[in-house]
Amino acid sequence: MLAVIGGTGLYDPGFLAGAKEQVIETPYGEASVIIGEGPQGSVAFMARHGRGHSLPPHRINYRANIWALGSLGVAGILATAAVGSLRRELPPGSFLLLDQFIDFTKTRISTFAEEGVVHLDFTRPYCPRLGGYLLEAARRLGMDLQDRGCYVCTEGPRYETPAEVKMFAQLGGDVVGMTNVPEVVLARELGICYATVAVVTNYGAGIAPVPLSHDEVGSVMGRNAQGLRRLLQMTMEIVPPGEGACCGKGDG
Ligand code: HPA
Repeated sequence: MLAVIGGTGLYDPGFLAGAKEQVIETPYGEASVIIGEGPQGSVAFMARHGRGHSLPPHRINYRANIWALGSLGVAGILATAAVGSLRRELPPGSFLLLDQFIDFTKTRISTFAEEGVVHLDFTRPYCPRLGGYLLEAARRLGMDLQDRGCYVCTEGPRYETPAEVKMFAQLGGDVVGMTNVPEVVLARELGICYATVAVVTNYGAGIAPVPLSHDEVGSVMGRNAQGLRRLLQMTMEIVPPGEGACCGKGDG
């Protein structure tokens, strides 16, 4: 089964028929999942920030969310993320398929493996196979989806200083957000394939002369949500039904 994790601006699974909420108990607490029918079978949907965007990035129960999806037998996650751009050539409204991340989080538990020694390979942090389906979906829709992007994950919830934005760009980052780590890491630990479409909602602090606001991020996302839904829906039509995960421990 496929799952969609909707970030800022994508709170409802409008693209799933007969959607019903299920609360799942996990060793890390409860997680709320909506399950409905996609074009090729059941699809799980999760609003990362909760309904009505009640959870800030550092308070999201990432372990409960990913554990819950794993317990449902999810083999692939299509995630969305609103991001700030670290580069002038990536203006608001750009769509990117992430292929790398740099982790600047500080307080999050980024593993299920609190005992024992687990060192997973992260040469390819995002699933290239799921990414390929997203690129094919974008091609069929005539949408512009950049085929790579390095995501810098900050702790938040504050936005960055202009000095941080400059540093992140110098380090090789393309966009900045607050949620992909540990989500992508936890998915890999459970052997779930994971791909993210990042939508640029603003230039990083100091690149444009205007201060950042969550309302602005939300409204740019709102303007792009329809395109994002179409992309996800087309991708769900393309992924062969019943296809299992390829990002097991140590590979992917
Ligand atoms: N910084 C961090 N997270 C974000 C941004 C940003 O500029 N825009 C959307 N999410």
